Amino acid sequence: MAGNVKLSLLARGWLQMTVTWTSGYDISEAYPFVEWGKVGAVAAPTRTPAGTLTFSRGSMCGEPARTVGWREPGFIHTAFMRDLWPNKEYYYKIGHELPDGSVVWGKAYSFRAPPSPGQNSLQRIIVFGDMGKAERDGSNEFANYQPGSLNTTDRLIEDLDNYDIVFHIGDMPYANGYISQWDQFTAQVAPISAKKPYMIASGNHERDWPNTGGFFDVEDSGGECGVPAETMYYYPAENRANFWYKVDYGMFRFCVADSEHDWREGTEQYKFIEQCLSTVDRKHQPWLIFAAHRVLGYSSNSWYAAQGSFEEPEGRESLQKLWQKYRVDIAFFGHVHNYERTCPLYQSQCVTGERSRYSGTMNGTIFVVAGGGGSHLSTYTTAIPNWSIFRDQDFGFVKLTAFNHSSLLFEYKKSSDGHVYDSFTVDRDYRDVLRCVHDSCFPTTLAT
Ligand SMILES: *[C@@H]1O[C@H](CO)[C@@H](O)[C@H](O)[C@H]1NC(C)=O
Ligand SMILES: *[C@@H]1O[C@H](CO)[C@@H](O)[C@H](O)[C@H]1NC(C)=O
Ligand SMILES: *[C@@H]1O[C@H](CO)[C@@H](O)[C@H](O)[C@H]1NC(C)=O
Ligand SMILES: *[C@@H]1O[C@H](CO)[C@@H](O)[C@H](O)[C@H]1NC(C)=O
Repeated sequence: MAGNVKLSLLARGWLQMTVTWTSGYDISEAYPFVEWGKVGAVAAPTRTPAGTLTFSRGSMCGEPARTVGWREPGFIHTAFMRDLWPNKEYYYKIGHELPDGSVVWGKAYSFRAPPSPGQNSLQRIIVFGDMGKAERDGSNEFANYQPGSLNTTDRLIEDLDNYDIVFHIGDMPYANGYISQWDQFTAQVAPISAKKPYMIASGNHERDWPNTGGFFDVEDSGGECGVPAETMYYYPAENRANFWYKVDYGMFRFCVADSEHDWREGTEQYKFIEQCLSTVDRKHQPWLIFAAHRVLGYSSNSWYAAQGSFEEPEGRESLQKLWQKYRVDIAFFGHVHNYERTCPLYQSQCVTGERSRYSGTMNGTIFVVAGGGGSHLSTYTTAIPNWSIFRDQDFGFVKLTAFNHSSLLFEYKKSSDGHVYDSFTVDRDYRDVLRCVHDSCFPTTLAT
């Protein structure tokens, strides 16, 4: 009756966690709630009511979502667990209270509350895009479109004890207008999302549809125009139709952008990105991460290269000055289905010859394509651009480990065996962030 629970964080992620799930009950039939408490506490568990949303066929923008792909999505419930103790273990269980007072229960799960912003503790993040879903027995597999999806999912389920939060940066189920595929996807990732905050970004396969206010007038969402994604998952955007948000996790600040909406200077999203990047106190949250679905930075994927841009047009032209001014450590993208990492770059130039151990003044941002979550792989140019340090045309995902305020480890793992195939470290103190480099301090205008 109810299932596929998914945890998520709020913008000031500490102290609060959300749980979202789907059921067949509207609130006139049963009241949804979550029962939760601190593991080992003597206090009785807390019951917190959930909000309920759904969406209708009429809110779909085109075919097949409005026609053969339509299926009633049921009711999507979200409850907020508040005043959590940082890093403590919690248990929780969803439930629905029927009119006669009896309760229909979901399964019991547990999670670890997030560290407070700036907290010094071991913090481990997973990042990938474009995963999709598949059937283990190959049944109903009409196109084998996401052949790496189950391997990525399985590696993350096996390794649940060794990371804390997941960012799936767009192209989630590839439902493309067949609404039931959202349930297939959320069931596939539920063993992960029931235990770890599962944060998402909007991709072309969630959002794009002609003449619906997006940046790309293509039909990649199969008529969904973002409605299922924006309802099925919680993420801390002020207006969830604008899929951009910030989230803090201990020593990390994440600024998640929406590459399916205009990001250029003068737009609402550009203001958000600047606000997100500029409001983090790097003394306490040194690790500043930017993420979006489409490649707004650098990729030597063959079709971007054929256009001569190595990116979505107007991506880095618009955003580079923000990444540089606010000294973004790493910018992640999906969309291209492979792995690629650049040197620390400023205006397409490597700012250092170092390849794996970065330290001292930070003069540029490292750009990473981590779009090999599962969908059919993309090819590269044969000539390797001089900013491209490592490429792998295979399925995989990235893990970031912050040991403390001055030491970060980056690892790229293949989904087939979970082993590390590329890595680098960043060792840096706050004074290294403070130093002015190209475009990163305000120009002095007080000269006499
Ligand atoms: C960054 O630039 C400064 C000054 O241009 C230089 O001294 C420093 O070595 C550079 N740092 C790295 C890590 O390349
Ligand atoms: C990399 O290639 C670009 C374009 O070909 C060139 O402008 C730049 O000087 C090169 N950088 C290095 C570090 O070789
Ligand atoms: C930070 O962690 C690294 C890696 O574990 C360690 O070598 C370093 O001593 C730590 N630094 C501080 C200031 O604790
Ligand atoms: C999935 O992983 C197995 C080994 O664990 C490997 O043999 C297989 O090729 C992988 N599948 C894909 C599509 O990469």
